[in-house]
Amino acid sequence: MNLFNVYPLFNINPVKAEGSFLWDENGQKYLDFYGGHAVISIGHNHPHYVDKLKNQLGKISFYSNSVQNNLQTELAEKLGKLSGYEDYSVFLCNSGAEANENALKLASFHNGKKKVIYFSEAFHGRTSATVAVTDNPKIVAPVNESENFVKCEFNNSEELEKIFAENKNEISAVIVEGIQGVGGINLLDKDFILTIEKLCKENNAILILDEVQSGYGRSGKFFAHQEFDIKPDLITVAKGMGNGFPIGGVLISPKFEASYGLLGTTFGGNHLACVAGIAVLEVIENENLINNSEKIGAYIEQKIKDFPHIKNIKRRGLMIGIELDQACADVRKELLFEHFIFTGNANDKNVLRILPALNISEKESDLFINALGKTLKAIDEKILELK
Ligand SMILES: Cc1ncc(COP(=O)(O)O)c(C=O)c1O
Repeated sequence: MNLFNVYPLFNINPVKAEGSFLWDENGQKYLDFYGGHAVISIGHNHPHYVDKLKNQLGKISFYSNSVQNNLQTELAEKLGKLSGYEDYSVFLCNSGAEANENALKLASFHNGKKKVIYFSEAFHGRTSATVAVTDNPKIVAPVNESENFVKCEFNNSEELEKIFAENKNEISAVIVEGIQGVGGINLLDKDFILTIEKLCKENNAILILDEVQSGYGRSGKFFAHQEFDIKPDLITVAKGMGNGFPIGGVLISPKFEASYGLLGTTFGGNHLACVAGIAVLEVIENENLINNSEKIGAYIEQKIKDFPHIKNIKRRGLMIGIELDQACADVRKELLFEHFIFTGNANDKNVLRILPALNISEKESDLFINALGKTLKAIDEKILELK
């Protein structure tokens, strides 16, 4: 059997990882400045994480959601405390898309309405409703299409007001990322997010904050939206939550009422996933990683800001979009194949997306900074020609 060929692959096969480094099968070492799509929050194979998972494997890995699982309550308590949302409850699932799909359902169950507003350049996942609120027609199948999903320009308050006015009493929810990741690290304007919250309140619509990529300390706060004075009704998490172990969650405001059978999943909140989630929160807290995220993010920004060909740096914490004056694909390739550094791209072809582990050091960052400097200089020296 072959693999269904949906991913364009670099010809690199990592077989070992530690902290912010990976090794391929030939022993070549790589610096991970992308965290495998923002997933690696506490560094690869963190000893505390490895110990806890190994220990749990020796006890019990899985049983169904029809019995008590104290690890779920422990995870929920820790998450509430560290995120500042102690009065919310959590529904545990397996991925970012599943978290958002459940959030959209919860909103609709709650207010009985059908329409959802989403924004240009948004990415919320690939399941039915989440792909319909993702701004990429290429990944929306006919079966996912519906008139219930209304697109609004990102950061355009006027258009948002117009959409609410035109769809009086029909909007169930507004879904927005804390920081747009796949779109190219697009930051929310303060006025815009305040307007979203106000319009949701006035129109009995639910505000869903997708923190799947921007959450878990990546932005220098536990959640990116905590930069603003807002309180979303639902917050979705995944990626950094398990440091690679599949886990996701919906944080749910007390105004939602749970009932048996309303939501469900076979694997969500299993013993191993919970232990991974608990270990991540413990390391984030004990090693002060949220502060480190802002400290190192600011260090990188400061060091690269005067490099040639950098037009703009969009950044909160260690969620960094380096906007070049041209497409960044060849810069990425040069970083990977000449300097052995993983970075990411975005829908905006000019944006290099940087998402290292939250415990990356200045010394490790210097490897990236020096390599980027050399690579960008090589463009002017015509050593590296960009298309
Ligand atoms: C903001 C955001 N939401 C949702 C998702 C979907 O997460 P998953 O791939 O775990 O389904 C992603 C994935 O990139 C994301 O960046």
